[in-house]
Amino acid sequence: MRLTRKATAMVLASMMAVSLTACGSSDSSATATTAAPAATEAPKATEAAKETEAAKDAATEAAKEAEAAAPGGGNIGVCIYKFDDAFMTTYRNALQEILEGKGYTVTVMDGKNDQAEQNNQINNFIAQGVDALIINPVMTSAADQIIATVKDADIPTVLINREPTAEQMSAYDKLVYVGCDARQSGTMQGELILDTENKGDINGDGKVSYIMIQGDPENVDAQYRTEFSVKALTDAGMEVEELDLQRGDWDRNKGQEIAQNDLAKFGDEIEVIFCNNDDMAIGALQAIQAAGRTVNEDIYLVGVDALDAALNEVVNGNMTGTVLNDANGQAAGAVEAMEALLGGKTYGAGEQSIYVDYVKVTPENAADFQ
Ligand code: GAL
Repeated sequence: MRLTRKATAMVLASMMAVSLTACGSSDSSATATTAAPAATEAPKATEAAKETEAAKDAATEAAKEAEAAAPGGGNIGVCIYKFDDAFMTTYRNALQEILEGKGYTVTVMDGKNDQAEQNNQINNFIAQGVDALIINPVMTSAADQIIATVKDADIPTVLINREPTAEQMSAYDKLVYVGCDARQSGTMQGELILDTENKGDINGDGKVSYIMIQGDPENVDAQYRTEFSVKALTDAGMEVEELDLQRGDWDRNKGQEIAQNDLAKFGDEIEVIFCNNDDMAIGALQAIQAAGRTVNEDIYLVGVDALDAALNEVVNGNMTGTVLNDANGQAAGAVEAMEALLGGKTYGAGEQSIYVDYVKVTPENAADFQ
């Protein structure tokens, strides 16, 4: 049997009464008043004590019931935009481990990059009566609909990885976004290039000629990383030339194909390959090596995420650098926010985005993240 939301609230209320009692043991009548307001009309300590006992019994009963219904205190539905994504695989494993470690019952669904499929999964979770949802939307543009659905069902919800606008989130005060500010990662990618001996201008012609391999452009991470990586260069006074910009949808094979075609087309003109993530950078590296080019000598290559494979390549000098996209930190932050929501916290407009910092990764510090 599953506890209804109301029953859960009652359990929490009666448990709070008991814990308030425990905190105020130095003054039993005052404590009992806090635990059971009716005691003010019957100020005798014995009456109050009886009420406290009753509250304790109710709490014990209800807690037993809660435990039977949902071991560890709750059923959590997690929706991932697709399982076949390198970074989100690390992230979802971290999330599952933290939640299960805390005793939650967790079900993780693969949205298969299909918003309609994910909508069904969200509806099913709601029908099953989950206590909270953690959602990595397939389409950021579907945020309004997702938010309306969870609001309607009154389910505390944490959105992750694909950030909606503050205005969209303000529609529901039991909703938060936990993620990173993608502008920061773009800026750090630009800085990694500025930190090289020639600031990316390998051939000394006065400009940095680059190709940009973009993630899914529907996603704010892809938009901001594309914009801010180049902005860091121009802000530092560098002239830039974009030879090509193509979407690689966060995918290693697409990163490899785009880099291969561009290396064949532009040859030595390419001085920098910016990739919005590491998986595409690993693909681009295969193309770079196949074309007989050498990273950090005649071409620079940067990614984002700090996947294990990328960290190895940074250490080996086959990638100029990457940026840590802290999967563990974000997973921990998402669970913390979820627990705050389950505890009754609500979030006002403008305070619904919780950010975890990115970290620049170079050969000097890469080993720290391995
Ligand atoms: C980004 C990450 C990418 C990809 C994407 C999915 O934050 O860097 O590798 O996982 O999220 O939305």
